[in-house]
Amino acid sequence: KSVLKTRWLAHQLVHLESVDSTNIWAKKHQHELRHGAMVLAEEQTGGRGRLGRSWESSKGEGIWMTLVLEPGLPMHDAGKMTQLAAAAMHQAVVEVTGLPVKIKWPNDLLVDNQKICGILTEVSGELTRIERLLVGIGVNVNQQVFSGEIAEVATSLRIMMEQPVSRVALLTLFLKIFEKCYDDYVLHQSYGAVLRVIREHSMLLNQPIDVIRGDQRVAARAVNIHEDGRLEVVYEDGRSELLAGGEVSVRRK
Ligand code: ATP
Ligand code: BTN
Repeated sequence: KSVLKTRWLAHQLVHLESVDSTNIWAKKHQHELRHGAMVLAEEQTGGRGRLGRSWESSKGEGIWMTLVLEPGLPMHDAGKMTQLAAAAMHQAVVEVTGLPVKIKWPNDLLVDNQKICGILTEVSGELTRIERLLVGIGVNVNQQVFSGEIAEVATSLRIMMEQPVSRVALLTLFLKIFEKCYDDYVLHQSYGAVLRVIREHSMLLNQPIDVIRGDQRVAARAVNIHEDGRLEVVYEDGRSELLAGGEVSVRRK
């Protein structure tokens, strides 16, 4: 606890040796977890990505964590918290490694087109108000090699830096930045700094993309990331649409 540089975030810290998924664990133990709690695991045996996909989480080599948050916000602001986490992790990774990190809307960080970080935000609450957010974050820090299917899409900070990277340094810096962004937004309604980071480092903005819904794939161009976290796209027939992270996948052409 003493290495933490936060005022309130992660002061309740659950550190697990091995777990199926920190998000699932946080759901099962929701009554023991307070606002600001962090569930951190050395290894996940059933780590999950978006849309039920799996997330490889090898022992001791990554940051596999879930933050428990009760921001008391309207439901339609949930997407902003994923963007806030992505912006905070972007800043932390850049500060620790100096790598050229890109943000792939809505939930991934990439270096050289390969994924180093994924974010899975799960919301509970009634229709209009967020009761609780589970922000699950996975960072590939010290893997030396990936095998199988994900070898093509994944990389780690160690692979890119050609040397090990301190998980503690990255995590403590991330928590400090995340807490600042969170307080700015939730307490002071100030979200501009997050938006600037997201827009400046987006790998999709002003690019031709494919919008994928189920088995449908439609060509478009990404033109803006809105204040509420949605991606504005323009289709080839001139129609435009605001996409929320939960409903679509986007691929760069
Ligand atoms: P989308 O654009 O819809 O988010 P995605 O390919 O980024 O698509 P996600 O659900 O965000 O998919 O992430 C899960 C995918 O990430 C898995 O299907 C797998 O290909 C890949 N993956 C799994 N584990 C890791 C990891 N540790 N690091 C990087 N990528 C991983
Ligand atoms: C994605 O890119 O689809 C999101 C991946 C999210 C992975 C993290 S690791 C910690 C937390 N627990 C999980 O099972 N998933 C998230």
